[in-house]
Amino acid sequence: MNLTVIDHPLTRHYLTILRDKRTDAQAFRAAARGLTYTLVHEATLRVPYDAFDVETPLEMAKGHRIRNVVAVPVLRAGLGMLDAVLEMIPDVKVGFAGVARNEETALPQEYYAKLPDLSDAYVIICEPMLATGGSLSWAVDKVKSSGAKTITAICVVACPEGVDRMRQDHPDVQVIAASLDRGLNDRAYILPGLGDMGDRLFGTT
Ligand code: URA
Repeated sequence: MNLTVIDHPLTRHYLTILRDKRTDAQAFRAAARGLTYTLVHEATLRVPYDAFDVETPLEMAKGHRIRNVVAVPVLRAGLGMLDAVLEMIPDVKVGFAGVARNEETALPQEYYAKLPDLSDAYVIICEPMLATGGSLSWAVDKVKSSGAKTITAICVVACPEGVDRMRQDHPDVQVIAASLDRGLNDRAYILPGLGDMGDRLFGTT
């Protein structure tokens, strides 16, 4: 598994707003969107595209159109990254993967999955918190079973435990994150992290 941690002032700016416990849900959603733009920029560096000629008002020029991108937000926190993906990637298709963390075991439990055929797709999984790696590993299993071969995960915060798990389970997947944090606490929350991403996005704290 290949990990890229984005080192960009805008990424750090938005991540700081997300980390700050005083940030309310509305500002949190806006910052999640802003940060996701910077992750999508990196995640689409190797996206497939068609080349064709386009006529400018003056003469012909080379044109490019990207194709076959499917985004898969991992419910529910991944929804906080979806708007930015929809805005940035024309014609993107969206599949959904619903997994809840069992609060006692911290293991992922599937509750919903709706994926298109992914055999020719460039898949971008939106999983904001790469904590134990259980949810992301499960989501990658899911997209692979729908035919996906080229898979990138975008994460707001990752930690060494999740990265190790992904290296073990899915060495072929590219992971892009805004930060590699210190590690997990005894409840499998990332430290320093930003708390519960889903709760903070949707005001359910
Ligand atoms: N999920 C979250 O929302 N936050 C964490 O720190 C870990 C998992």
